[in-house]
Amino acid sequence: MTDLLSGRRHVVAADRTAVPSGVRGDARRRRRLGLIVAAVLVLVLVVTGLAVVAGDGVEDEPRAGAPPPSAPAAPDRPTLRELMPSGVRIGSAVDGRPLSLDPAYRALLGTEFNAVTTENAMKWRSLEPSEGVYVWAGADQLVEFAEQHDQEVYGHTLVWHSDVPTWVSPQWPAERVRSALKDHVTEVVSRYRGRVWAWDVVNEVLDEDGSLRDTLWLRKLGPGYIADAFRWAHAADPGARLFINDYGVEGRSRKADALLKLVGELRRDGVPVDGVGFQSHLPWDAPPPDLTANLRRFADLGVSVAITELDVRIELPVTPAKLKRQAEVYRDVLRSCLALSACVSFTVWGFTDARSWIPGYHRGYGAACLFDEDLRPKPAYSALADELGRLTRPTAAPAETP
Ligand code: XIL
Repeated sequence: MTDLLSGRRHVVAADRTAVPSGVRGDARRRRRLGLIVAAVLVLVLVVTGLAVVAGDGVEDEPRAGAPPPSAPAAPDRPTLRELMPSGVRIGSAVDGRPLSLDPAYRALLGTEFNAVTTENAMKWRSLEPSEGVYVWAGADQLVEFAEQHDQEVYGHTLVWHSDVPTWVSPQWPAERVRSALKDHVTEVVSRYRGRVWAWDVVNEVLDEDGSLRDTLWLRKLGPGYIADAFRWAHAADPGARLFINDYGVEGRSRKADALLKLVGELRRDGVPVDGVGFQSHLPWDAPPPDLTANLRRFADLGVSVAITELDVRIELPVTPAKLKRQAEVYRDVLRSCLALSACVSFTVWGFTDARSWIPGYHRGYGAACLFDEDLRPKPAYSALADELGRLTRPTAAPAETP
C-alpha cells in the first residue's frame, strides 16, 4: 500500500485492496493498471474454462508419466451403482496413484461405485509418519473425490497390528502407548466427522485359532483396548457406523465362532459396535460354503454386516474356465449379502487387475478383480450386473431371497 500511495512502485494486480480511490498519480497509470487487471481476469477465466471442459477439475489432468487417457466411453448398460438396491452400498478400495493420475480409472470409479474405501491412505503409518506430523493429502483426496461423485466413504482402518508408524515404540510404558492410540483414533475420526459413514475401528484382532492376536496393543493394554477404541471413535463422531473387520471369518470356522462371541460380548457390555466386516479375500476354487448362514448368525446379534474387501484370486495361468468359476464366486458373495437386510455394503478390494494387491502378496495368483488390466469388464463383472438385474431385495427384517 505504501508503495501505491507513493505511486512509485509496481502493483500486484491480484491484490484488489491495492487499487484505492485515493491513489495519487496520473490518469494514464490508472488506466494501465485497469488494463492489467482486466487482462489477468480474462486469462484466469480462459484457463479455468479449459480445465472444466477437459474434466472435472484441474487435478484431473494427467501428469508426466501417466498412462494415456483411455477413458472408456459411457457404458450403454446400467452401472453397478445404478443396479444396486437402495440401502446397500457398492464400493471399491481405491489406490491413490491412479486416483491422481489416470482419468479412465477415475471415470470408472465414479460411475460404477457409490462408496469408496482408502486402500492405504488412512492407515496410521500413512497418516502420521512422524509423531504429530500428519499427512492428510491422500485421504483428503479420496474424501473430496467421493463428495464430488456422490459416494460414501468407508474409513479403513484405525487400529491394526500392521502399518503402525515406527515411532510408536514397544519400549514405551503402557500409558504412553494408550495415549498415542487414543490420540490417533480421536484425531483421525474427528477430522472426517460427518464425512465418513463407517470406520473399521479394529482390524484383524483375532488369530487363526480364534484367540486374540498377539499385538503391541494386546500386550501393552490388555483385551480392553478393543472396547476403548470403539468408545474413542464413537466420542469423536457419534454419527459414524463402527465396524470390527477380519479375514477368514466368512464361512463357519473356529475363528468365525470366536468373532461371534467377541461381538456378542462387546454388545452386551454396551460397546458401540455397529457392524462386522468380512474382508473376503477368497480363492477362485474354494469359496466359503456356508457364507449366508454364517453372516446371518452375526445379523442375529443385531449388528450390520458388510463385505469389505472382496477379491477372488485365480491361480495363474488364467483360463476362461477359471474366469467363469471366479464369476460364480463373486455372484455367490453378492447373493449372500443381498439375502440379508442387515448387509449394508458390498466392497471389492480394487476393481482392476492393473492395481490389485494380489500378485504382490499371493505368489502365483492374480486376475482377482472385476475389470482386467485394460479396464475391460470381466465375466465376474457381468455376473454381478446380471445378478443385480435379476434380484429384488427383501424389504422385511433378515430374510432369505427366494
Ligand atoms: C493391503 C493393500 O491392498 C496393499 O496395497 C498394502 O501394501 C498392504 O495392505 N487386509 C486389509 C487391507 O485389511 O488393509 C490390506 O490391504 C489387505 C488385507
